[in-house]
Amino acid sequence: MSNPNIKPPADCSAIRVVMMPADTNAANTIFGGVILSYIDQAGFVEARRQAHHKYVTISLHEVRFHEPVFVGDVVSFNCETVRVGRTSITILVTVVADRYTNGDCVKVTEAEVVFVAIDDNCNPIPIFPK
Ligand SMILES: CC(C)(COP(=O)(O)OP(=O)(O)OC[C@H]1O[C@@H](n2cnc3c(N)ncnc32)[C@H](O)[C@@H]1OP(=O)(O)O)[C@@H](O)C(=O)NCCC(=O)NCCS
Repeated sequence: MSNPNIKPPADCSAIRVVMMPADTNAANTIFGGVILSYIDQAGFVEARRQAHHKYVTISLHEVRFHEPVFVGDVVSFNCETVRVGRTSITILVTVVADRYTNGDCVKVTEAEVVFVAIDDNCNPIPIFPK
């Protein structure tokens, strides 16, 4: 991370949430779209921590669901800023489930989310203006 403006990772998760029965798919595990939604929100929290702008998501890279998530798991969305371009910021989101049944902590998903800072007309603007 060579950009001196970039803050080191926060010492707490961007989001922690308990998974509920309404979040399940037909296999009774947590629907991937629910996890993706939280990944997007968590990345946004991290982007705003780095620089206070409006942001839109331009892409999600390399989403990998390693393990299922279950009802009752306490799921943490941990973020690290891995790249800041002129108008874009890339956040690595690592998702860890604290298992409801035994408290084991398991990395279940990871993804890179790219946000673009925008002005009131939805045009890209610099993350760190000079
Ligand atoms: C995001 C948006 C404002 C970008 O506008 P644009 O004119 O295409 O922007 P640019 O081509 O100048 O690119 C802006 C930044 O995005 C980056 N970018 C472009 N395509 C990208 C991609 N596929 N993946 C990652 N980054 C990308 C560019 O490299 C640039 O970053 P940089 O300035 O740090 O180098 C526009 O595409 C948009 O409004 N998209 C819809 C966003 C949205 O609604 N998101 C919610 C999805 S439901």
